[in-house]
Amino acid sequence: MSIEVPPGLTELLQGYTVEVLRQRPPDLVEFAIQYFTRIRETRNQDGTGPGGVKPLLKEVKISEAEPMQTESTGDDDEEDDSDFEPPVINRFSRRVSVCAEAFNPDEEEEDTEPRVVHPKTDEQRCRLQEACLDILLFKSLDPEQMSQVLDAMFEHRVQPQEHVIDQGDDGDNFYVIERGVYDILVLKGEQSVCVGQYNNRGSFGELALMYNTPRAATIVATTEGALWGLDRVTFRRLVLKNNAKKRKTYETFVESVPLLKSLELQERMKIVDVIGVKNYQDGERIITQTKADHQDNAEVEIARCSHGQYFGELALVTNKPRAASAYAVGDVKCLIMDVQAFERLLGSCKEIMKRNISHYEEQLVALFGSSMDLRD
Ligand code: CMP
Repeated sequence: MSIEVPPGLTELLQGYTVEVLRQRPPDLVEFAIQYFTRIRETRNQDGTGPGGVKPLLKEVKISEAEPMQTESTGDDDEEDDSDFEPPVINRFSRRVSVCAEAFNPDEEEEDTEPRVVHPKTDEQRCRLQEACLDILLFKSLDPEQMSQVLDAMFEHRVQPQEHVIDQGDDGDNFYVIERGVYDILVLKGEQSVCVGQYNNRGSFGELALMYNTPRAATIVATTEGALWGLDRVTFRRLVLKNNAKKRKTYETFVESVPLLKSLELQERMKIVDVIGVKNYQDGERIITQTKADHQDNAEVEIARCSHGQYFGELALVTNKPRAASAYAVGDVKCLIMDVQAFERLLGSCKEIMKRNISHYEEQLVALFGSSMDLRD
């Protein structure tokens, strides 16, 4: 049975969604009644008729980044006597933040706060630099900004069972792991459930600082460890400011990635917030297949990925070792996400990814003639 989307439905719901995101009404149903009543009144006034829906989007600003033009419906094109502007929707209108208090560089307070500096020995700075090498949120900082971040960071030695962060608390610091193992616990009802673990690398504590929300998880050290903290003010001043630029650069791209189409606008914005950018030269290895010790077979090309496609998800979806290596063909720019963000943000896309595993299995059958089970 094929299901047809009635003409105008997409625009209608898009218009309503954009207004909700702009105005954040406390009561969505009440707001819906008002919104759709206004549409009906406008329609009655200009005689659009029941089939022609004009979203109430007059106030939505069109930004400089490729606005998304909705298809016009019914007789819209012929009507120029109305003061209604054409329904141009920019789903990422920059004048409004759609994530819970997302950072807006234009509104952020003047940079008048004194710089935070925690003096360090050369040995400490070396260890800190090493720990920060792969931190995605730092990847887009320029050298001067990175140096200010390093100056502001402070060392924190951790004892086993120490709660570095408690879910529900206000956010004070962002943490980079130098060493130690840390459990991630999230309350599911009354139960505290371990949803993941950091093992001697990575970072945490960015969410409360980015979105001004309470801590979303509890982080408990299971071993002795060492962390580097970065205070909230410096984090927002340097890291978030840069992230806002990153949003401008990548939001259109992220919207065009087929895998992410099923996500909500806010979820896609959050993906832009956590992605890092990595460039590779021709021939460089991007991910490495995990081979059994005795395996020493020659490598065979099984597929090529290009713009908007993804790889590297299989090991995360199946919890198995890397099943293939990926090499750059020409100069390549990848957007990358760490495993915790992948779990947190792409949980709902996992089903699509799992379905796509069958394509890999088909490719292998085509090449080697025998079936291979890549799943768990
Ligand atoms: P924040 O909410 O500031 O503090 C707890 C941190 O745990 C959070 O930021 C993330 O950095 C990290 N974290 C890792 N996995 C999750 C998860 N599944 N849900 C929420 N937070 C997580």
